[in-house]
Amino acid sequence: MMLKANNIQKSYEELPILKGINLEVGKGEIASIVGASGAGKSTLLHILGTLDRPDSGDLVINGISINNLNEKALSAFRNEHIGFIFQFHHLLPEFTALENICIPAFIKGLSKNEAEMKAHELLEMLGLRHRANHKPTELSGGEQQRVSVARALINNPAIILADEPSGNLDTENATSLHNLFFNLRDTIKQTFIIVTHNEGLANISDRIINIKDGLII
Ligand SMILES: Nc1ncnc2c1ncn2[C@@H]1O[C@H](COP(=O)(O)OP(=O)(O)O)[C@@H](O)[C@H]1O
Ligand SMILES: [Mg+2]
Repeated sequence: MMLKANNIQKSYEELPILKGINLEVGKGEIASIVGASGAGKSTLLHILGTLDRPDSGDLVINGISINNLNEKALSAFRNEHIGFIFQFHHLLPEFTALENICIPAFIKGLSKNEAEMKAHELLEMLGLRHRANHKPTELSGGEQQRVSVARALINNPAIILADEPSGNLDTENATSLHNLFFNLRDTIKQTFIIVTHNEGLANISDRIINIKDGLII
C-alpha cells in the first residue's frame, strides 16, 4: 500500500466534515475522489497530503506513520514523498519553468547541477524542452499544468495528490493532462489521488471514491 488512511475524522467549528474515512491506495493506482461541492474532498486531500492534521485517525504513507512525525520531520517527509498539483498551478511567478521544477529538489538537498539535470529530463519527457526558461505567465494553461506535474515528480514521490487539476483547462488540454497521468501510471507506476469534477477522468480512473455526508459511499 502506498497510502492507508484509517478512520479519519475532521470537524470545523464543531461541524463534522469527515466522519471516519477509511482508504487504501496501492502503487500505480489512480483513484478519483468525487462528491458534491462542500462534501469535504479538499479537506480530505489536505489531510492525506499532511498539509492538515485530522482530529483523529491514522495515516500511513509509503510505510511511514504520519502521526508520529513532528512538524519539521513532516515538512521534510511531505517534500520528499508527496507531489501536489492544484487547480491553479501555484508556480512562483518570478521563476522560470526550470527553476520552479527544481525547488522541491533543492529543499531535499540536491545540488544545482543534480536538480537541473532531473528537471531537464522531466521537461523533455513532458514535451516542454523549449519552455525551460519561460516564466509561468509566458506559458499556456496546459503548459503551466505540465510544469506543475514536473515539479510534483522531481523527488520521485510515493504519491501525487491533485485537487481539480484540470478544473481550469479547456477540454483538449484537460484530456491531454489526464492522458499524462495515465502514461505516468503505466510507465513509472506513479500513484495518484485526484479530486475531480471531470466525469471522463473519474470514469477511466482505477477507482472512484465518492464522498457524501462525511463518509465514503
Ligand atoms: N479551514 C476551514 N475552516 C472552516 N471551515 C472549513 C475550512 N475548510 C473547509 N471548511 C468547510 O468544510 C466543508 C468542506 O470543504 P471542502 O473540503 O473544501 O469541500 P470540497 O472540496 O468537497 O468542495 C465546507 O463546508 C467548508 O466550508
Ligand atoms: Mg475542493
